[in-house]
Parts: sequence; C-alpha cells; structure tokens
Amino acid sequence: MRRILVGLDERAYPITVAAGLLAGVGAALKEQRLAKRYMVVADDRVADLFGTALLDSLHGAGLAADLLVFPHGEGSKHLATVGDLASRLARAGVDRKDALIALGGGVTGDITGFLAAIYMRGIPFVQVPTTLLAQVDSSVGGKTGVDIPEGKNLVGSFYQPRAVFIDSTVLNELPDAELLNGLAEVIKYGVIYDAPFFDFLAAKRAAILGRDLGVLEEVIERCCAIKARVVEADERESDLRRILNFGHTIGHAIEAASDFTLAHGAAVAIGMVAVSDIAVAKGLFAAEEARRLRDLIAAFGLPVTIPAELDRSRMKGYLKTDKKSVGGRPFFVLPTAIGTVVITDDVAGDLIDRVLA
Ligand code: GLY
Repeated sequence: MRRILVGLDERAYPITVAAGLLAGVGAALKEQRLAKRYMVVADDRVADLFGTALLDSLHGAGLAADLLVFPHGEGSKHLATVGDLASRLARAGVDRKDALIALGGGVTGDITGFLAAIYMRGIPFVQVPTTLLAQVDSSVGGKTGVDIPEGKNLVGSFYQPRAVFIDSTVLNELPDAELLNGLAEVIKYGVIYDAPFFDFLAAKRAAILGRDLGVLEEVIERCCAIKARVVEADERESDLRRILNFGHTIGHAIEAASDFTLAHGAAVAIGMVAVSDIAVAKGLFAAEEARRLRDLIAAFGLPVTIPAELDRSRMKGYLKTDKKSVGGRPFFVLPTAIGTVVITDDVAGDLIDRVLA
C-alpha cells in the first residue's frame, strides 16, 4: 500500500494506492468517521462495473450507503445533472452529516465534487477514481465543476476531497484509449517537475503499456506526489499550479477545433510537442531535449502532430478565449529542460502561427 498526504492544513487528506483497495474503502471510511451515510455517485457504466463491489465494502464495514447513477459521458457534465442529483439527495433525506463518494472518471469526480461543494452549502466527499487520468490528475487537488455552452469547466469551485482511494486493479477494465488519455498526463509530470521520472517512464514503457499493476502503482504514486506538492504550494492556481497546464493551452484549442472528437490525451500530447517547439524557437529548450520528449510521446502511441484537417483560425480563436488567457493573451508553459518549465505569455503571434501550421 502506498500513501501520499496532500498537506493543506485543516483541508489535508490522504491518497491511498493499492491493488484491490475498492474492497477496503468501507473499513478505511469507518476508521475516518467521516459521515453517518454515504451516497456513491457513479455513471451507469461504472456503476455496473464497480458499484456493487464498493457498496459491499461499505455495507460490510457496517456503513449506510446507497448508489446514485447518472448517464455516462461528457454530455452529463452540466448544471442540469448537478441539479437532478441534488434533488435526489434531498428526496433521500441526505443532510450535512452525510457524505458523497465519487466513483468513476474525471466527469464523475468533477460533478460529484461540485455537488458536494454546494449541496447544503457543502458536505464532505471522497474520490474513488477509476480511470488512469482521474487517478493521476483530476481526483487530486480539488478542482470541481461543470461545462456550460459557453465553455468547458466555466462553472465550478475549489473543493478538496477528504480522501482519495486508488485501486490499481480497476485499470484492467480500462479501454486502451482511456489508458492513453491518462498517460499523456503522466508524461506531463515528468516534463514539468521530475526528470528522473521522465527517464523511468522511458525505461518502463513496455510494462506500463502491458498494464503491469506494480509499475502502474509506482507511476500513480509519483504523479500524485508531484501534484500534491504543486497543489500544496498553490491551491487556487494563482501561480505554480499553472504548470499543470503544460500542453493544455494548445491542447484545449486542438480538442475544441476537433469538436471534441480528438481525445483529451491525444490533444495534450500534441500540445506538449507544440509548446516544446515554441520553447526551442525561443532559445529556451534544446532541440535534442525536444526530440526526446517527442520520441517518448510517440513511443507510448500518442500523436505528435496537429491533424491537417483542423481549422487553424478556429484554433487561434480558442487560444484567445481560453479561460486562462488574460486580456486575450494566452499563457504558455514552456519547458526549459526535461523536469523544468517556465510560465509566460510572451510568445509572438507569428511564432504561434508557425507552430500551428
Ligand atoms: N488538472 C490541472 C489541475 O488540477 O490544476
């Protein structure tokens, strides 16, 4: 069993990583004495896969628990779903002594965390992520929220979970494309923070793609530890936390210009290569290092070039309106070495054009 603490004073919480941990969530929560009743929120697919196992664990520990199911997919990540779930909580008599458990991927974690933040002005919640992306990124750090027609994640709050339970064996059920989504974020951590971890990923590529759970647990632990350190230093993303957006500024524009047909991980992978090209052009990053990054991304089976059919002017429009751009100027996280990045909005428009082309 691996343990990482997210040290946020009175909002501190543990992340536990272990094979078969789903069966141990009940006992751990019983010890934590978080609530008198637990409402497990899951989409229909995840509820079918893991809902019974989690409920059995909770009931087996003598805890009261029920399952709330909503339809799977990004399309559920909107205010109407949160409103519907809130009504169902109210009808079930859920009060401030109760807690939510997000069982699922990023959509479920984001919706459930936001629901927990606003239901009765805030009730505790716990994350049980079931995708690699959620395990290494979205379940940790307290970003919650939903999309509105005007943009993704435009409504939400920072609201930390009380615990994160990561069972590596759930990854056996994960489709390959979902594994790749998570791996793009995994590579990101090596580039922004941890050169030895980047080398570890290169050395363990076959084991990772072969879903060696021991190696994946080490990957998850190291990613969560990096994310914990970054979030501890800058919980509300006023400064350092922005490094977690490495590859995401151009990545989001690529995703949006593809009308979200391109997977998030693929878009972030291409975005990481694009910004490393910008960094090389600005003389910040050695071409040889950029090649190492591109080679590692490609070796994991992720794309490295922007699909020719994507409309470049649409992408430029998205860069300007990205919620993290200020005054229409997008910011970029640029690598200066593998393991170190800088944040800047000082990238000339013609350089952006060249890289997008
Ligand atoms: N996924 C980026 C962050 O949590 O800040």
